[in-house]
Amino acid sequence: MIKKGIILAGGAGTRMSPITKAVNKQLLPIYDKPLIFYPLSVLMLAGIRDILIIVNKGQLNQFKKILPNGHNLGIKISYAEQHYPRGLPDAFLVGKKFIGKENVALILGDNFFYGQSLTKRLQECIKLKSGASVLLHPVKKPSLYGIAKINKKNKIIKIIEKPKKYFSNLAITGLYFFDNKVIDYSKKLKPSKRKELEIVDLLNKYKKNKKLSANFISRGGAWLDTGSIEDFYNTSSFVSALENRQGLKIACLEEIAFNNNWIGKKNIENAIKFYGKCEYSQYLLTISKKD
Ligand code: G1P
Repeated sequence: MIKKGIILAGGAGTRMSPITKAVNKQLLPIYDKPLIFYPLSVLMLAGIRDILIIVNKGQLNQFKKILPNGHNLGIKISYAEQHYPRGLPDAFLVGKKFIGKENVALILGDNFFYGQSLTKRLQECIKLKSGASVLLHPVKKPSLYGIAKINKKNKIIKIIEKPKKYFSNLAITGLYFFDNKVIDYSKKLKPSKRKELEIVDLLNKYKKNKKLSANFISRGGAWLDTGSIEDFYNTSSFVSALENRQGLKIACLEEIAFNNNWIGKKNIENAIKFYGKCEYSQYLLTISKKD
């Protein structure tokens, strides 16, 4: 069972410069809330309550203003700084102490997941005892992502980061589940040509030992990433379209914590005071008034 999760919210944000020159990308808005709320909500929906957020050096205070310690969400949030972006597996080296002897989930701070069966799927994924598992989803432009090819038995037979030549349209999304070997494997990784530790090299180590399994976000689910400015605004529009149609919020952290019975109405009232007079608080008010 996975009880710990890491959100990797570092990165230079170069693809979105100059917007990200002064502010971390994960604190920019996806429609009505900061981007970081979305990956955090995914871990919470999975039932993970012990969370490490890895941020860039010097950005801790910005994050703590919006997510101090998780107490009001019934979870524990701790922080670690990454001195410079060294690639995704660096999360397991920076987070070594936090992980301890346990298994761990990793979600990239700019990934967005949505879908009817998502919570159920996540709850299955955190049952992992040994090995690693990834979530796959089809994409139109495979050259932009880590890509996996599967056989008839849904086993991963090949993975390549940003392949130049087409071999599959199944992207490896930015949500990964690992056993504790991930720390040792990450220590042994060598930087790639672009001088970063690569997540596909790490996954390949599990694959070599026949310990890599695949799960799928079905066609009705959405996986968007907010890598480029275009993707960022598309994700925002997606959230705005759904929320305004349904009157239900995506990634309202207090609502998820409340539905999980991690917090009570008093915490919702505290959150309303914390956020002040705004539309998000209005929404929280409707939750606090539920029977
Ligand atoms: C990273 C990973 C890639 C994965 C993607 C998901 O790419 O390297 O394998 O498919 O995240 O968002 P990046 O966004 O850093 O280019």
